Amino acid sequence: MEFICLCFFLTAALILSLNAILKFFSFGQVKLPLPPGTMGWPYIGETFQLYSQNPNVFFASKVKKYGSIFKTHILGCPCVMISSPEAAKLVLVTKSNLFKPTFPASKERMLGKQAIFFHQGEYHAKLRKLVLRSFMPESIKNIVPDIESVAISSLKSWEGKLITTFQEMKTYTFNVALLSIFGKDEVLYREDLKRCYYNLEKGYNSMPINIPGTLFYKAMKARKELAQILAKILSLRRQTKQDYNDLLGSFMCDLEGLTDEQIADNIIGVIFAARDTTASVLTWIIKYLAENPSVLQSVTEEQEAIIKSKEESGEEKVLSWADTKRMPITTRVIQETLRVASILSFTFREAVQDVEFKGYLIPKGWKVLPLFRNIHHSPENFTDPEKFDPSRFEVNLTFLGHRFH
Ligand code: HEM
Repeated sequence: MEFICLCFFLTAALILSLNAILKFFSFGQVKLPLPPGTMGWPYIGETFQLYSQNPNVFFASKVKKYGSIFKTHILGCPCVMISSPEAAKLVLVTKSNLFKPTFPASKERMLGKQAIFFHQGEYHAKLRKLVLRSFMPESIKNIVPDIESVAISSLKSWEGKLITTFQEMKTYTFNVALLSIFGKDEVLYREDLKRCYYNLEKGYNSMPINIPGTLFYKAMKARKELAQILAKILSLRRQTKQDYNDLLGSFMCDLEGLTDEQIADNIIGVIFAARDTTASVLTWIIKYLAENPSVLQSVTEEQEAIIKSKEESGEEKVLSWADTKRMPITTRVIQETLRVASILSFTFREAVQDVEFKGYLIPKGWKVLPLFRNIHHSPENFTDPEKFDPSRFEVNLTFLGHRFH
């Protein structure tokens, strides 16, 4: 018996020692260095440096000092920040399986755990397909005249008034989002949905303290109410047994097998993703057009030429999908605004295993931040990057990694 115990003990000791030796020498593997950069103070890291100045200045000075990949430590997390198109493509597209989305738990609770933003793999791919399907030309073509009428009624409601552009753009975007998600049924729920979103939005970035009276509590309450409204819409749709071409119809397709909770979380999430982003971009477009009278002139002429040609050919006056294809200048203004304004400066991922990139190690568990704004404002990718110049998009190369004049 003693002999067996001794053998067992020796074998275990040998295995453990061998394991430690293998780890120590990393047989055959060269230990990769971490990216350049500084980690600041223990735990606090460089959080104060980031928050005490314009974050863009923090990122830009790091890029200047260390290049397109560097390490830092923010809000208790070791991070690798990347600011090259290839690195962003690797993290978000080609090797996206190695980098998982990370959000604070409070955000997941608020938008819904089943929403696309918090997932990877098969479920994520399925949702992505469904969202894209309902925003393909075939699906949105038919609602172009309705979108135009939302725009016209917004313009009318502003007549003779001083407006806050961003607020009005939010209302406009919300109405268009509801149209593409619920089709023409949306008018029935518009006001209730608007009220709930208003409360959800107010609490989204608040301290996550769920006690009566706090913004977070009110937002969570609004979130519950949104789920109830959606449950009502789902049940009404199931009774009518019609086919719908909108996003909700796409999610409800039996073949996809999504549960009601998954549908609700994703509808709520998509409205949230679509609203402020698009409203911000529209607001920036107006600002840049006002600051660049020659560009405004070209856009106006392009739009007026479409109206005139419709009048001359006796076509219906309402805007059609085909008309939107005759707006190259307007399209370039949108592309250039997305670049210059870079309304989402960066996003977050977390390495799910040790990853090698450009000879550096991105350790498992570290946050990885593709810095969109730095990519869009780098002279390596865009000549004279601070200049608003829609003509740089005249060459139709729109994928990450191409240089624009
Ligand atoms: C012009 C305004 C917009 C900008 C700048 C923008 C920007 C972004 C960015 C940067 C991401 C990636 C975030 C990440 O992966 O960490 C994203 C994701 C997403 N956006 Fe937008 N977005 C805009 C408008 C919209 C609209 C109108 C919709 C409505 C369908 C939408 C729906 C989504 C969805 C569903 C995702 C998640 C995609 C995925 O995980 O695969 N966005 N958006």
